Amino acid sequence: GTGALMTVHVGQCGNQLAQAFWKSMVDEHGINERGQTTHEDDMNDKKDLLFYQADDDHYVPRAVLVDLEPRVINGMMQSPSFSNLFNTDNIFMSDHGGGAGNNWASGYFQGQEVKEKIMDIIIREAENTDNLDGILFTHSVSGGTGSGTGSLLLESLREAFPKKVIQTYSVFANSDATGTTDVVVHPYNWILSMQRLIENPDHVVVLDNAALHRLAAGKFKTDTPTFDHINSLVARIMSTSTAMYRFNSSVCPSIRYLDLAPFPPMHFIQSGIIYNVLFSISPVVDPNENFTRKTSVADVTRFLLKPTSMMVSTASRVRPNDCMLSAYMFLQGQIEAHTIMSAEQTVDFQIKRPPFYMLKPLRMMHAPLSPYVRPQYKVSGLLLNNSTSVAPLFESLLSKYDRLRSKKAFIDKFEKIDNFSLDMMDEATHIVQDLLDEYKAVVQNGYLTRGL
Ligand code: GTP
Ligand code: MG
Repeated sequence: GTGALMTVHVGQCGNQLAQAFWKSMVDEHGINERGQTTHEDDMNDKKDLLFYQADDDHYVPRAVLVDLEPRVINGMMQSPSFSNLFNTDNIFMSDHGGGAGNNWASGYFQGQEVKEKIMDIIIREAENTDNLDGILFTHSVSGGTGSGTGSLLLESLREAFPKKVIQTYSVFANSDATGTTDVVVHPYNWILSMQRLIENPDHVVVLDNAALHRLAAGKFKTDTPTFDHINSLVARIMSTSTAMYRFNSSVCPSIRYLDLAPFPPMHFIQSGIIYNVLFSISPVVDPNENFTRKTSVADVTRFLLKPTSMMVSTASRVRPNDCMLSAYMFLQGQIEAHTIMSAEQTVDFQIKRPPFYMLKPLRMMHAPLSPYVRPQYKVSGLLLNNSTSVAPLFESLLSKYDRLRSKKAFIDKFEKIDNFSLDMMDEATHIVQDLLDEYKAVVQNGYLTRGL
């Protein structure tokens, strides 16, 4: 039969991403706020990929919501869009409700006390389908719960599901040039989470709040984008990248076939999206060229391959030997298969010149659209890019960590947590350093010239 995906959402950011994601999922699958279908079923709609049917046939998200404080999930359960949608047995909120106070160690060790309860929920939900393909996991790595409890759950998930695809959507704190951030100890929380992100998931989609903020400001034409704006971009990545599984595409019917990380642990994925492409339909005037032409798939790909399209703020620091280890481009809308194929060749040409080197050809795919939602755009696109150009983000975060750590700033907040020891930070530092060395080896020596 068809495979299934389930989702696990941890902490404030994780659960707010759940809202954005599941709102678009119910819309795209023609399901109302009580889990009932709103349309005659389309034959390509695989509702059971992400939903199961209860005894009375209504659809229930295969989602598990976890937080150490009740505010966000309670808010969600009081909103008319969600109050009757989720299975309340799939919600875990801490009884005392204090959260983890932006402290990874607090989240990790509070998590140990409740881990079994949470894993029971997740395993029951997984057993609800006999053919689970994978788990999508959303959280931020800079607070306490999503990062600390999230880290612990990633370890447990890998152990409980050694063969399933685990894909995280991990939000990194705003690390822009001004250095302003909402969580001062985020580099500590990041490095401790980063170890678990290196060791456990198959893919980590890296979402950098600084870059998300900039892209949301552009898309929504505001200087002050809200989390709703930002999260809608993330939901868009999640929905486009799963569209092929949800709407019966023969090209890539399961997340199991997504070959995004051929050189683990280099499995950190950057993403970019483009909307409103007037592709081969309307002529547009290019102000630089002074003639009328049509925007082509090549233009779309050129846009998506620009570092500024990436949801990672350091992506513009492309180095001469940066290398794409694997990449997928998904196009949605009014496109014909043959244009995609010819574009694939153009892209090959674009990428093979420096500064881009590729180990695998970029794969272009036509992702289906929901049959129930009128598309906003004639063509839209998503790039999932596993490239060495993600390393500067980690280097920048590592140096922020080093600075805090050498001053022992706020370190007492971590040391006072029972069972936490600074050895955990040192271990994490080594593991992150090893990853950075791996990226460096690719950039400096080039896997390409080593004949791989
Ligand atoms: P504690 O509250 O400390 O127990 O942990 P938590 O996991 O609930 O913390 P939270 O998810 O709020 O993590 C803080 C980081 O996540 C900060 O960098 C926030 O800017 C960011 N963040 C919080 N909510 C959202 C959201 O809805 N979207 C995005 N993109 N980032 C968020
Ligand atoms: Mg919280």
